[in-house]
Amino acid sequence: MFADIVVGLSYGDEGKGKVTHHLLKSGDYTHCLRFNGGCNAGHTIYHNGQKFVTHHIPAGVFFGIKSIIGAGCVVNLKQFYSEIEMLEEGGVQTNGLVYIATNAHIITDLHLEEDGIDVTIGTTKRGNGPAYRDKYERVGIRAEEVAELASGGYLIDLYREFHEALVKPTILCEGAQGFGLDIDWGEYPYVTSSHCTTGGALLNGIPPQAVRKVYGVTKAYDTYVGAKDFHGKGRVFDLIQQVGNEYGATTGRPRQCNWLNIHDLKVAININGVTDLIINKIDILREIGKWNLRSYKNDAISLHLRNEETWKQYLDKYLTEEGALNITFSDSPERI
Ligand code: IMP
Ligand code: MG
Repeated sequence: MFADIVVGLSYGDEGKGKVTHHLLKSGDYTHCLRFNGGCNAGHTIYHNGQKFVTHHIPAGVFFGIKSIIGAGCVVNLKQFYSEIEMLEEGGVQTNGLVYIATNAHIITDLHLEEDGIDVTIGTTKRGNGPAYRDKYERVGIRAEEVAELASGGYLIDLYREFHEALVKPTILCEGAQGFGLDIDWGEYPYVTSSHCTTGGALLNGIPPQAVRKVYGVTKAYDTYVGAKDFHGKGRVFDLIQQVGNEYGATTGRPRQCNWLNIHDLKVAININGVTDLIINKIDILREIGKWNLRSYKNDAISLHLRNEETWKQYLDKYLTEEGALNITFSDSPERI
């Protein structure tokens, strides 16, 4: 078995969907696996010139390979079915391709109601926290208990699928959210309730020896949605928000913007074991015409680089101090 992993290194919305979509074009993979989160995530994908926003279903479905919502996920069934419908209407065939792991958990109406009144964390109000709480309290509902999922042919046993198959699978694992929102490594309590790291992918039945590449994804600047104060001071950050179209794919909320924090980025790269780094939305900084970075907490160090080239050089030097890292700077919403 082989597995490549796509992880977010910031606060979600880094463009993981685009990277996953791009990697799947290679035709190398037999499976695509979402390994954490619920429908709090919104993955924007451009496929054959058409824009799709998915919340649950991983991007493998666009390429006719098995697309699995893994054991580390929580699922809202209404959303799941409506996504299948949306894909089918957009001409994407889902039959026999879309699955939910037997041991994934279900988001109930009560979870939604409870999350709906959150003001402390600034959640997406999609029932995520309460669903994971019930999972760990051992009172949750697993997908395998839902009769309609079984009869609809939507359930998959990850052990059987990954370890007992005749043809060894090659799996692309697609993370949701990012390192800054990780339950353990993010700035608690301003985090989501799941494991957004490489470790989170392994929790889905992927043995560590299977992992080949870890694709870490970030943007040329940081964005964050939630209750903590994050937006930088100055008009330039409002400009980044507008030019970068930084509004949530799930809730439409404006994303708070700041310069890319290279200290936090390095932590995320090291802890995730990133082999390939993709820095998206270079085109936005180009349009803004400012090439800045931050380091350490609360803007303690602010770096003003002269131009795009010195900015890239600085990043490359800083991030590769401890070892090789393949860095890609991307300036297109559709390509890497
Ligand atoms: P929850 O995951 O809905 O509980 O929200 C917890 C925190 O994670 C909030 O700050 C959300 O805005 C943030 N969050 C959750 N999912 C995403 C995502 O896909 N992109 C960006 N932020 C997210
Ligand atoms: Mg998103």
